[in-house]
Amino acid sequence: MTSTRPAEVPAFPTDRPDSCPFDPDEVYTRLRADEPVTAVRCPAGVDAWLVSRYADIRAVLTDPRLSSRAASSMHMLPIADLSRDPSPGAIIQADGEEHARLRRLLIGEFTVRRMEALRPYIQKITDEHIDAMLQGPGADLVQDFALPIPSLVICEMLGVPYDDRVQFQHDSEVLIGFEADEAARRAAGDRLWGYLGELIGQRLAEPRDDLLSRLIARANETDRPLTPQELATLGVTLLVAGHETTANMIALSTLVLLENSEQLAVLQAAPENAGPAVEELLRYLSVIQFGLFRYATQDVEVGGTQVRAGEWLVAAISSGNRDENVYPDPDTVDLGRQARTHLAFGFGAHQCIGQQLARIEMQVALTTLLRRIPGLRLAMPLPQSEFKRNDLVYGVRSLPVTW
Ligand code: HEM
Repeated sequence: MTSTRPAEVPAFPTDRPDSCPFDPDEVYTRLRADEPVTAVRCPAGVDAWLVSRYADIRAVLTDPRLSSRAASSMHMLPIADLSRDPSPGAIIQADGEEHARLRRLLIGEFTVRRMEALRPYIQKITDEHIDAMLQGPGADLVQDFALPIPSLVICEMLGVPYDDRVQFQHDSEVLIGFEADEAARRAAGDRLWGYLGELIGQRLAEPRDDLLSRLIARANETDRPLTPQELATLGVTLLVAGHETTANMIALSTLVLLENSEQLAVLQAAPENAGPAVEELLRYLSVIQFGLFRYATQDVEVGGTQVRAGEWLVAAISSGNRDENVYPDPDTVDLGRQARTHLAFGFGAHQCIGQQLARIEMQVALTTLLRRIPGLRLAMPLPQSEFKRNDLVYGVRSLPVTW
């Protein structure tokens, strides 16, 4: 068992190769083989153990001794204060019983049955957006399709007015990007929390048939009702997580398909196989590109390395999803692959609560797009600058298409 840190710790994050914008850094292939748990220096100013093998990542994400107290992204923020306690209601950062309490309140809203009931609505808005795109000779697939669909769905679920989307989409993007300065991030956060706080005030006074109102009612039946601050944090989490991730997956998946005509033909010929196809795209793309951050509350061994209490770890899910011991020929996108065991939604207690919704949105969006616009193609080669290499969620800023 080793625990020695090298004197010179390499910097994290690594970078994507120019040769393929869908691949993570080639260094992961070497790390998985030779140094599966290795020390890196994160932008937040701490050193962490980078865990790159699939099996070790699953072990990290299920170990109760490894805390989520610094949200999944905080290792990437140069200004992050890692000593701060998580805000009340921050489910992604909560541990143990506090996490279980928040998760119990939400889980009933995201059952497979409830999500399947949304399928006709998702199909309807998908068709409406394609109708609108077909009015012109081309479109920006991000603004005209990939972003509106999950945004509309999460607004409908939460009871957030879709007319307010310009502001909340902008503020979400600032929060999950790492380019804005501290003042801009704080302003975006204040606006989002203020906005949800106001909506929650309205629901407390006058409940409706929406997720926020049901959440309030459900928590009131327990011995610890949610405070307005907890409610606002849960609302912001769902609003941001509910549209950014899926929007990036829809746009990026479309680009992968347009650049892999054989795979595109596979899905076009058999849209009933959209389920496994979406799992493979989730594996291949791993849009939570900088991995998941954890904190050791006790000494723990990970992949033969001794991690001490007080040390940090990064579970590199984009590497685990390319682990050749689990997925043969991992750098090839193969829609026929059985990839449902992927780590794109995380693993363990914090595994994505919205995964079933995201799956349905991606399945409907991609199959409908390919069926209704069979001649879909890129309007121009996409410049490197359009790829979100520095954002917590990988994606493209725009995707000009024509048909
Ligand atoms: C393709 C789309 C999505 C991806 C790739 C994704 C990815 C993830 C990942 C990796 C985690 C685990 C974080 C951790 O362990 O630290 C997570 C958690 C979470 N996701 Fe998603 N997500 C997606 C869509 C959604 C949607 C649509 C919603 C809500 C409507 C959502 C809500 C959440 C919430 C609330 C958590 C925290 C769960 C917990 O801490 O118990 N996500 N997601």
